[in-house]
Amino acid sequence: MKLLEEKIRSEGKALSETVLKVDGFINHQVDPVLMSEIGKTLASYYKDKGITKVFTIESSGIAPAVYTAMELGVPMVILKKQTSKILTGDVFQTNITSFTKGTSYELTLSQNYIQPDDVVLVIDDFLANGEAATGATRLVEMGGARIAGIAILIEKAFQRGRKRLEDNGYEVRSLARVSKLGRGLIEFTEADL
Ligand code: G4P
Ligand code: NA
Ligand code: NA
Repeated sequence: MKLLEEKIRSEGKALSETVLKVDGFINHQVDPVLMSEIGKTLASYYKDKGITKVFTIESSGIAPAVYTAMELGVPMVILKKQTSKILTGDVFQTNITSFTKGTSYELTLSQNYIQPDDVVLVIDDFLANGEAATGATRLVEMGGARIAGIAILIEKAFQRGRKRLEDNGYEVRSLARVSKLGRGLIEFTEADL
């Protein structure tokens, strides 16, 4: 997606060989015009795939997910990050350990918001090693539902997240694919959408 690539080129900052800062339009301040365009782009790709719900992981996936859900005319569900296990039986939970952030949490989904006949599109801001996205797929499977695809705003193509998701049978579609980062350097490879 040209608009997202341009935004990353002009306002993104590579802090190291692995970390891209996009605080000014995705992770802290949010650009609603960009998010709305992302929603339209994703909805036009996924519109005939029978999607019944858009899932995202709090917090930075929420903005693109809500615009996409609005375009598709389906609800958006936020997978919550809880610090500990919930002992009542009405949630699905799975442990996520982020290599990128060095943190661990229980990704949580109320059983009220997934049904076996759901067809789910998962949206997230970054794909690095794919811990978070893989956790989201586990929760959808616990609910007995199907994943139509995984859509990512910024894929770090030099990390293993895409391969891991594809090896598990999921289709990944990224709007921007960063092939190399370095201080002051951001290189792209061709995106999917
Ligand atoms: P992991 O397996 O290496 O942990 O990668 P994963 O793709 O699960 O990402 C873990 C968290 O780190 C995610 O945020 C993701 O958005 C963020 N992240 C990964 N690489 C980068 C990067 O280069 N730049 C930025 N800004 N973030 C990155 P999260 O913990 O889910 O939090 P939130 O931002 O959605 O609230
Ligand atoms: Na995220
Ligand atoms: Na993030």
